[in-house]
Amino acid sequence: MKFKMPRPVITPEINLIARRAIRVQKIYVPAATRKNLKEIAQISGEIKKKGLPSYLIVRKLKGKLGHGVFLHPEAKPIERGQVIASYAGEMQLFPQNQSDDSDYAFAPIVDIRLTKEEQLRFDPKRKYHPRRLYALDLDAVRKGNFTRFINHSEKPNIEACLLRIPPNSHGLKPASAEIVYIAKKRIHPGEQLLVCYEGEDKSYWGVMGIKPFPITPKTFQLSSSLKVQGA
Ligand SMILES: C[S@@+](CC[C@H](N)C(=O)[O-])C[C@H]1O[C@@H](n2cnc3c(N)ncnc32)[C@H](O)[C@@H]1O
Repeated sequence: MKFKMPRPVITPEINLIARRAIRVQKIYVPAATRKNLKEIAQISGEIKKKGLPSYLIVRKLKGKLGHGVFLHPEAKPIERGQVIASYAGEMQLFPQNQSDDSDYAFAPIVDIRLTKEEQLRFDPKRKYHPRRLYALDLDAVRKGNFTRFINHSEKPNIEACLLRIPPNSHGLKPASAEIVYIAKKRIHPGEQLLVCYEGEDKSYWGVMGIKPFPITPKTFQLSSSLKVQGA
């Protein structure tokens, strides 16, 4: 697995801007719990070493679906509330009207206003405009971890939670906002891990002009010989 980034990379400057946007817009970003932090630290260690925790398998699916992530058929179930991993990638600020249309991008915070100095720093080619809005863009197209292979479903077994990583004793760098994938129901051995890509803004599939294939965790399953079966 070439994607071995445990958590997103965010510069101190962008972290400060994200913190300010959360305060100004009164966005509710709960702190990761002690259990979340312990699990993020554990999985981060495995991602750094091997890329993929031993209980997960990445397999190619049919047609244009590309790869998907499955729970190993002999693993124990993943319980509701268990951390899958942080969605890792490169964090940038993007002018909101020309957002990143990469297949692997999230916009965890939008409607961000920048000061004149910040616009000059992050958007140097354009003239300053005080009302121009920016989005925080998290893109796993070049760097990331196995979460970039998790496919979309309207009936997902994972949810993308925006969490604050507070100072902690696990060696995790604090962050004002991080997308953490967490199991929203019990995931059984052999099932595919799936998340819903769309927020309230329905901005993923509409922009791509694609109708997603209707997958549930059981549509494709891994057999004991680690072959993909179904559909
Ligand atoms: C974040 S990637 C997921 C991993 C991807 N399968 C891969 O191999 O890189 C998102 C892309 O996967 C494909 N995809 C994921 N879920 C899908 C679905 N339910 N229907 C159709 N395509 C899907 C689309 O091409 C989408 O843009």
